[in-house]
Amino acid sequence: MTVIKGIKGVKDLLPEETPRWRLIEEAARRWASRYGFHEIRIPIFEVTTLFARSIGASTDIVEKEMYTFQDRDGTSVTLRPEGTAGTVRAYIEHNRAAIPVPQKYFYFGPMFRHERPQAGRLRQFHQFGVESLGMADPRADVEVIALLWRILSDLDLHGLTLEINNLGYTSDRDVYRPRLVTYLKQQESGLCSNCRRRVDVNPLRVLDCKTPECRAITEMAPRLADSLSDGARSYFAQVLAGLDVVKIPYSLNHRLVRGLDYYNLTTFEVTATNLGAQNAVGAGGRYDALVETLGGPPTPAVGFAIGLERISMLLPESRVGKLPQEVTVYVAGFGSQGTVVGLTALEELRLAGLPAVSDFRSTTLKTHLRQADRLGCRFALIIGDDEVAKGTGVLRDMETKVQHDVTLSTLRLQISSLLAGH
Ligand code: HAM
Repeated sequence: MTVIKGIKGVKDLLPEETPRWRLIEEAARRWASRYGFHEIRIPIFEVTTLFARSIGASTDIVEKEMYTFQDRDGTSVTLRPEGTAGTVRAYIEHNRAAIPVPQKYFYFGPMFRHERPQAGRLRQFHQFGVESLGMADPRADVEVIALLWRILSDLDLHGLTLEINNLGYTSDRDVYRPRLVTYLKQQESGLCSNCRRRVDVNPLRVLDCKTPECRAITEMAPRLADSLSDGARSYFAQVLAGLDVVKIPYSLNHRLVRGLDYYNLTTFEVTATNLGAQNAVGAGGRYDALVETLGGPPTPAVGFAIGLERISMLLPESRVGKLPQEVTVYVAGFGSQGTVVGLTALEELRLAGLPAVSDFRSTTLKTHLRQADRLGCRFALIIGDDEVAKGTGVLRDMETKVQHDVTLSTLRLQISSLLAGH
């Protein structure tokens, strides 16, 4: 029989890996709550037009990476490639603009993009993201960037750089775009085939193409910074000043244009030196027009998302090693009576709040103790027929090998006092 395998670029997270993921998620959750963000849970699929209209019809994501299919009634639906569009849709649908305080949300969850799978690039990947809706103030940008930086620092990730750029207002880019296109058209033959196509559909994306030939050409290209209005310059200067105030290190990157079309003014990305080609661990920016584009009231907004697979790859073992180990009791019940009393003891330990396990395949004390060791249990509670006859059990400390007789009724108390004695 052929064995059914998982889909390419869609990974299983096995129990050995989930503790590091929990650690990352807990750090993100802790910091998000300190910064006044609240959790939102949005659907995994939405109508296709939501993504096409927000992310932009000529972006890589919408052009070639979306998982889109027809629902049974013929509606075109898409597995979410990111979380901003859905969050904004929910914000509008539930009239959150009417609430007179800033709406600050965070979310976790799987995202779907049909990209070529490689280390750190998956087709189903996971993001933690935040969206701060309602404030057109450089301090809101500083706040989300600081939150991003605090989470990454808390996780002891090293070799990170925060790159930041000013995309200006839409009107600034309308001035800049023809200048850039004129220049790129002159250089067209030297561009990679993808960028030759982009010159007409999405010329700014040529600026962050990674191929050496395109990089050489765009190095000499007119810069967006030279087309920015005074308002955009002053806004960005305040963001940078704010980052200085809260001591978040950054470096300016005039090529950072991002792969989604909804951004204006501040855009940023955190890259890691030791991640290889897929080196962006998190990214975001301001998107002041998106809520209106999707039919909502004018609502300035800023946010970011981090890729949890990439964070997990960077998380130092030393950080994972610090995870507290739960004290687990292994119940070794054997013999005709012991197996029955063992089952009761297992259940009682759990009802009393202590993790307890057993391997029901083991029939002798020796095999039970071997399993207790393998499972990393701190104690083994030995219950054979002899113990049942005496109404006791034997509690064995698996580290020190010291054994104590215990009465089953006071087991929990005895374990607590043993632990306190260590
Ligand atoms: P993004 O840059 O498309 O932005 O994705 C954010 C992060 O998700 C990336 O920096 C990367 O770590 C991770 N990521 C993206 N694609 C993949 C993939 N195929 N495999 C593994 N990880 C991946 C957004 O998604 C925006 N919604 C961010 C945002 C929120 N902007 C404003 N608010």
